[in-house]
Amino acid sequence: MTKNTGTVLNYHDRTKHRLDRYAKGPESIDWEDQPDAFRRFSGCDIVTLPKPGAELDPLFSDLDKPDIIQPQPLSLVNVGLLLELAFGLSAWKQFGPSRWALRCNPSSGNLHPTEAYLISTGNDFIQSGVYHYISHDHSLERRCQFQDNATDPGLLIGLSSIHWREAWKYGERAFRYCQHDTGHALGALYYAAATLGWSVELLADWSDDDIANVLGLNRSDDFKTQEHESPDIICRIHTETDSKPIDIDGLLEAAQSGTWFGKADSLRAYHLYKWPIIDEVSLAASKPRTTEPDWQAVQQPLIKSACTKSATAIIRQRRSAQQFDGKMQPIPIIDFNRMLAAVLPTTAVFKHWRWPPKIHLFLFVHRVEGLASGIYALPRSQDAVENLKAATLTDFDWQKVSEAFPFYHLYSGECRQIAKTLSCHQPIASDSAFSLGMVAEFSETIKASPWLYRRLFWECGLIGQVLYLEAEAAGLRGTGIGCYFDDSVHEVLGFKGDQFQSLYHFTVGKPLEDKRLETLPAYEHLV
Ligand SMILES: Cc1cc2nc3c(=O)[nH]c(=O)nc-3n(C[C@H](O)[C@H](O)[C@H](O)COP(=O)(O)O)c2cc1C
Repeated sequence: MTKNTGTVLNYHDRTKHRLDRYAKGPESIDWEDQPDAFRRFSGCDIVTLPKPGAELDPLFSDLDKPDIIQPQPLSLVNVGLLLELAFGLSAWKQFGPSRWALRCNPSSGNLHPTEAYLISTGNDFIQSGVYHYISHDHSLERRCQFQDNATDPGLLIGLSSIHWREAWKYGERAFRYCQHDTGHALGALYYAAATLGWSVELLADWSDDDIANVLGLNRSDDFKTQEHESPDIICRIHTETDSKPIDIDGLLEAAQSGTWFGKADSLRAYHLYKWPIIDEVSLAASKPRTTEPDWQAVQQPLIKSACTKSATAIIRQRRSAQQFDGKMQPIPIIDFNRMLAAVLPTTAVFKHWRWPPKIHLFLFVHRVEGLASGIYALPRSQDAVENLKAATLTDFDWQKVSEAFPFYHLYSGECRQIAKTLSCHQPIASDSAFSLGMVAEFSETIKASPWLYRRLFWECGLIGQVLYLEAEAAGLRGTGIGCYFDDSVHEVLGFKGDQFQSLYHFTVGKPLEDKRLETLPAYEHLV
């Protein structure tokens, strides 16, 4: 085992929540001291994006077949819409004097460690260069101006994480949540692009250093040390006009010879606690330049969604449920089946995910029409079924429930209490229609290359984003659950050792609104 693999495995084990001890985090939190959720760079030119909030025609159900959506022209209006639908504000919430923003992409603790950048080359509506998106203002800060505006047209989106923003509240476990959030942001970008008739190409070969160099994240003088940004993902956005492949070295050269502007403002939080293990695991799990496969599952038609809302409406209404109606009627089986089928690698969403599935779902079904309460499994690849069967409790019967997709019954019995206990005693895991754990093919994946630790969480976040939107489309609501007792989950399912590990939980049900909270429009403050 390499040293980096050891560091990653050790980090994972050390940041497990256990029934008798949570992973190491701050002993106290001063809410007045919360890091600023909106990064700004002082000293940059600002490009104000056209007014947010535009509606587009495609229905959410049209996204099952994105090829039928007429591509929108590449313009500043539509680039603004792409950024808004992926990472922009969706509403403000107010309770007494407290006011906080929600965004189209969710985030653990609403801390939003993910930052988004736009790179544009050879487009006439914006100067070629690197721009940082400020979701609060719906504007771009020009971080770098490329010298040559005449290169081939290209549009890229880069994602990075400010680990400190998350660690401020969650301590050592925060690195995991940052990776989940990156996966959610990637999913949010996919849906935003598909709504515009555009597509996302994950530039999976790039190393972290490549991404950092292009986005300017390695310009250490521009960032306060503990508030630096770590590179995560870079994607090309395909609109109707572009086609030539992106030349990594050409872009790196453009960034190196470009003129850089601005310094990141301090996030204004006092760094009372330090979590050096996060920098250690981040380094050990950094991605080298690689040649990645372009793996794709054969596409299968999805059970049609009954949702008649537009894609823009569903994207903007997405929220996390804080509470569910524990007395709800069971949800229709057809809606349940649609939500599950939507996370399989055979759907349009996963066409941009370059790798074979490594994440499989184990569900605690509480209230689904025609299904006995109990534990079920949705292996996301046929190849994994035998290994999962062999690794889980021998009592599980692994009876196939549906011929249409790989859904198996394991055990019948009320499991609300156990689901709640496993998810850090949170009632959202038991008052829902169903909750689930996302189980990764873990040790073999990490041993192949430690950076894949991050990719496993990204895959979980991507699945979570699909579930969030599918839940809204079914008239329900979802919530991501990062707080769960890792090894207790493994024990209940029968997993021993680290061949399989649960990396994320999720729950879907009928939400109860908190009437004490006022909801305000996303961008009224810009008018
Ligand atoms: C990775 C991740 C983990 C989360 N974990 C929990 C959790 O354990 N409990 C919970 O109530 N909400 C959890 N949430 C929901 C967030 O609190 C929510 O996304 C955030 O407050 C923003 O609200 P919104 O999703 O309505 O935009 C999680 C969300 C994400 C993305």
